[in-house]
Amino acid sequence: MLLDAARETVAAELGARPDEVVFTTSGTQANQLGVLGALFGNHRKGRRFVHSAVEHSSVLHAAEQHEAAGGSVGTVPVDRLGRVDPRRFAEELLPGTALACLQSANHEVGTVQPVAEVAELCAAAGVPLLVDAAQSAGRTDIPRGWSLLTASAHKWGGPAGVGVLAVRKGVRYRSPLPADDRESGRVPGFVNVPGAIAAAVALRAARQEAERLNPAQHARIARLRAELPALVPDLTVLGDPERRLPHLLTFSCLYVDGETLLGRLDRAGFAVSSGSSCTSSTLTPSHVLAAMGADRGQCPGVAASGLHGRGHRAVPGGAAGGGGTGAGRAGPGARRRHRHSAGGRGGGGRGGGRS
Ligand SMILES: Cc1ncc(COP(=O)(O)O)c(C=O)c1O
Repeated sequence: MLLDAARETVAAELGARPDEVVFTTSGTQANQLGVLGALFGNHRKGRRFVHSAVEHSSVLHAAEQHEAAGGSVGTVPVDRLGRVDPRRFAEELLPGTALACLQSANHEVGTVQPVAEVAELCAAAGVPLLVDAAQSAGRTDIPRGWSLLTASAHKWGGPAGVGVLAVRKGVRYRSPLPADDRESGRVPGFVNVPGAIAAAVALRAARQEAERLNPAQHARIARLRAELPALVPDLTVLGDPERRLPHLLTFSCLYVDGETLLGRLDRAGFAVSSGSSCTSSTLTPSHVLAAMGADRGQCPGVAASGLHGRGHRAVPGGAAGGGGTGAGRAGPGARRRHRHSAGGRGGGGRGGGRS
């Protein structure tokens, strides 16, 4: 009963039918099952999988597995803002394409993808489209036209360890795992019922708050995007200035000690992460930044940082004006120190290795 209610709530908030929605253990599991299960279910169409170059690692790893098993993969490039061109996406939908995948918004730079346009082109080509809505579900409307939809509860303020996979009625899906009849045969094992209930309650609350929060967050980030480069030398703001998530800002800075800057921003009230956008030990840009055209030279010191502004203090006083240029700004020597300290944390820094 409680699980049914949670499913109904999540379905209603995501624009799905309750019988289309199953709960998974994470957004990662939702993507992996979604990709492999849809490819399996649609194998009669062919064995080609098409995705953008900036998808979450869970999609890329599923693609690698598909390729290792004899399938083929087409990767759609993005522009310098991290956005795919729908016409370029359509060019990859060659005969034999069984599934395409596009995220609603990017997890590193916040760029919103033209999902509705791509969905129309996929529909015209007869290719089902998996939309990874992990970054936007609960904050902005779910784009039209998905065949499969994935999301992650901790992204909307729900518990970690709960993901959502929705498969539109009529879309072919076959579990890539051994049989188990729970969750419509799509996710094996017992559902985390308390987690699913908490996820549903949090999603409804997030959606109710979004209308009020989004404009303020969007404006705050716009101000930071405009002012930070003038306040902090050698700072580059990344991602699309307009078509972006309301709450997320990513920038890279030369010659700044990442840990020090994170500490200062944290104390100023910002949720900041660093490290997932670059492999800090080698200063190699993440696959997202690399796809956007970053090279090694663009990824020193602080690799990239996200400011997740939900309920945090308005700026830029504390973040940049109050100490941005002084916070850990230590000249080129800091690059070496950062490289060493980040390497000692397993090469990822905070949030590293996740994306
Ligand atoms: C776009 C995107 N997809 C999938 C995931 C995976 O979600 P989870 O952390 O629940 O495994 C994330 C998490 O960062 C994400 O940002």
